[in-house]
Order: sequence, then structure tokens, then C-alpha cells
Amino acid sequence: MEVKKLCKSTSIVTINGIYPGPVLYAQEGDRVIVKVTNESPYNASIHWHGLRQRLSCWSDGPAYITQCPIQPGQTFTYEFTLYQQKGTLFYHAHISWLRATLHGAIVIYPKTGVPYPFPNPYEEHIIILGEWWSMNPVQLEQSTLASGGAAPSAEAFVINGHPGPLYNCSENDVYSIDAVSGKTYLLRLVNAALNTDHFFSIASHKLTVVEADGEYTKPFTVDHLMLGPGQTANVLVKADQSMDKYQIAMGPYVTAKNLTFQNITSIAHFRYTSADLSSMARPATLPFYNNSLVVNANMDALRSLEVTNLPLQIDENFFFTIGLNVGQCNRQNPNLTCQGPNGGIFAASMNNISFTRPNVSLLQAYYNSLHGIYTADFPGLPMKMYDFVNGAPNNSPNDTNAMFGTRVKVLEYGAKVQLILQDTGTVTTESHPMHLHGYSFYVVGYGLGNYDPNTAKFNLVDPPLMNTINVPVGGWAAIRFIADNPGVWFMHCHIEVHLSWGLSMVFIVKNGDGPLESLPHPPSDLPSC
Ligand code: C2O
Repeated sequence: MEVKKLCKSTSIVTINGIYPGPVLYAQEGDRVIVKVTNESPYNASIHWHGLRQRLSCWSDGPAYITQCPIQPGQTFTYEFTLYQQKGTLFYHAHISWLRATLHGAIVIYPKTGVPYPFPNPYEEHIIILGEWWSMNPVQLEQSTLASGGAAPSAEAFVINGHPGPLYNCSENDVYSIDAVSGKTYLLRLVNAALNTDHFFSIASHKLTVVEADGEYTKPFTVDHLMLGPGQTANVLVKADQSMDKYQIAMGPYVTAKNLTFQNITSIAHFRYTSADLSSMARPATLPFYNNSLVVNANMDALRSLEVTNLPLQIDENFFFTIGLNVGQCNRQNPNLTCQGPNGGIFAASMNNISFTRPNVSLLQAYYNSLHGIYTADFPGLPMKMYDFVNGAPNNSPNDTNAMFGTRVKVLEYGAKVQLILQDTGTVTTESHPMHLHGYSFYVVGYGLGNYDPNTAKFNLVDPPLMNTINVPVGGWAAIRFIADNPGVWFMHCHIEVHLSWGLSMVFIVKNGDGPLESLPHPPSDLPSC
């Protein structure tokens, strides 16, 4: 589709001609069937982010993990049940960087007759935070990888596709919510941005968080909220200010050192119905771009409304480092240098293994016992112990290579897993939004610096249940889940450029012995590579 943004006309890939894509509305327990026909010139696949895909791993969507891409002209039908799920989630393309424009909200209402655990809002609105490039995202990924350097900054940040008045040619390209004085609004927030964490706020109005990643939370009230790519939240906003027009603001949270980024705030409007339309909107404030105090305060306040299924005993205790690496520049032409640190190329890894994407889907390889596609030796602990946050392997700033491989970790059905995710400072410490497919996990602890089991504090009472955890910059997070959903499940950083550089791994969860503990046969229309 041709669209005009920021004075330029750009052709983008859309779903049913809509950007952001159409909202998928459903109810807890529904069987959902989505037929996807690829009319774009690119390979595509769709992931249903945060849906647990109980016994339906074939419909999870990450390309080359659970399926081969849907090729141009092909159709694939995704089918899954919204088993014990409600709230705000989203779907997005899961191949190259196509999800820049291929994404949309998923709204799952509670079962009929089951109320929200908070007063019914007067109205609900979906707010999708995104990033805009005029360059085609497939080329953008290719050129970034070819350069070896950082990803170019977004040309604009967008709220429901609109950059707002601070960007060129965008005075009227502004999303707006009409508010009735005295009423309460439920905003369903989705961070669908490719490469940036984002702060969100509304001038003069408080945000009361009641849900995160599709799970109810104990309500807490903040002025600013930060969402990493892949995170969602429901917030209540009361229109309790004087009749006027107020800015809704979205801006970057950036923790990596030496990174250039877009710093123009995207603005939308929260406009009381009787406000003067031509008046200036009251300005919203956002935290300074690297203000981690606000982020940590959000995290401290996040508590599950109700906890079920939290494993107190652990069968598997893993420790994964996450971070960036520098690889060799292998240019044929010595006059061309690579754009990464010290003339090398960026890579990224978990336990220093940079994930290499296979050419066939891992789920098919596993299901059909194909050999030579992956190895089952992903390490449960780092191969070298060192000061992860402040040092690098061998303490040599130049030896920051990762190993490459398609390595997986195999889990027995029902294993109770604890996983510590530790940020490294090998290139730069950075906050990484780590996402696990097929499960939500309890975030039982987090902290700054290197994880130390003797001093780490855990919350085993009311930890939040999430699908994407922003591991604190230069810190760690501890998550727990029960591996009771058989299949091949991707775990990765939801910053797209980090995923392209290899910041991912895969869990294979074996079948159980019970009747509803085995992965069914693949669907007959599963695409081939
Ligand atoms: Cu929303 Cu594998 O990601």
C-alpha cells in the first residue's frame, strides 16, 4: 500500500490494507482461525505474541523456528485456542523486519458474565506504539547486517501509525481520543516498535496500571510508564482535569552507550469534548532518555493480582548471559571496513552463543527427527564465569567474539524451570526485553549488577506473570515457568536488530505421557521452505 508520511510517499506491507493491522477481537476460550494469504512480494509469517499456543506450536509463527515462511502467493491457516487467556496482546510478522508495519492488537475479553477486576471503563482505546521508516524493512535489515554496524534510527515514532505535530508534514497526522469529563478510559497499550523501548505519558493525568502482558496486576498509579518492544499494558485514565486538550507522549528509553537514536517525541491528543479545538495541547513530560529510576519504580510496583501455578521447587536451574559481541570483519575488499566497534561487526548472544537461523523449521526438524539441523547442546550455564557486567571474557576488550550455532535446550515435559537472565557489558550494558514463546513466566526477582544467589531477593508471593521481561540495564532477572506445553519455543530479545544479530535460543519441550500432553500432527497446509 502507498502511504504518505513525513512528506514522503512510501510503500508498505499491510494486513487487509490497514496500518496498524485490524484488531483481532475474541473472548477467553475461543477457538481462533486466521487464514493468512501472502499477497506481498516477501516471505512472511505471523506470530501471535503472548498467546501460549497450548498444543498448537505449529501455529506459533516464528519463521524457521515453527514453520517455513508463507511464500508470496501462498496461504497458511493459523488455528489455536485462547485457553485461559484474556487481555491485550498483539500479533506481528516474525521474519526479517516486516513487523515494522505488519502488526495489530489482540483484545481478548473475559468470558461472558465475568467482569473486569476493576470498575468498568466508559470506553476502551487501543494505543500501539510503533516506529516508522521510509525504507523498506526487508532492505533495512539487509543493509544493517551488511554494514556490521548499528541499525539506523527510526525516522519517526508513531502512535497508532501517526507521528504527531513535532515531525515534518505531520501537523494533521495526529491520533486523538475524545474524552468526556469525569469518565474513566481503559487504554490498551502495545509496544510494537522494532528497536526501541518507550516511555508513555499523558499531560496532567495519572495512569493506573491494571494489566501487564495480558495478566491482571494489583493496580498501581504512575505518571510515566515504560514498555519494551513486545510488552503490553492496560491502564485506566480518569478524565478528571479541566476541559482542555492534553498531549499523549511517547519517547525513547535508551540505555546502550554511544547509540544515536531518534529523540523527537511522538504526540497524540487526549481532548475533552468541549475543549477549544484550535488551542495548544498542554505539554506532556517524559523522563530523560536514560532514566532507569522510573523504569525500576514501575517494575517494583508490578505485582500479580492472583498467583496460580508458581513453581516453588525447581527441577532445572539455568543461568543465561545476554548481550552484544563484536565479530571479525570478513570483507573481501580491504578498503571497505565494517561499521561495528573497532572495525568489526556487531553480533549478539546468549551464553555467548550467537544463534544461527536454520534453513528449515526447527519444529519440523524435531518432529521428523531430521539430523544436522540443530544440536541439543545449548549450555545451561555460561562457559566462562567472569564479571559479566563490568568485564569481558579474558578481560581483553578485543576478544568479544561469540560462537555461532543453532543450539537448543531440551526440557522434559513438566520440568519446573528457573532461569536467570544476566545482562553483560561486553560491548555495552543495555536493557533487553526478553520474550519467551509458548509460555508466560513469573518474574520472581531482578536486580542490578551481577546475580548473586546469596543476596538476591525473590518475590514468591505475588510476582508478575509476563511474556516479555525487560532485564534491567547492567542487571539480571529471574523467571520461573513449568514446561508443560510441548513444542519448539523461541526465546529472544524483542529488539529486532538484536534478534538479527543472534540474541536468541530455543527450548524444545518433549511430549508428556498423558492424553493432552503431546504435540499433534502438523496442519496439512504448513508451508514448505
Ligand atoms: Cu513478539 Cu518472537 O516475538
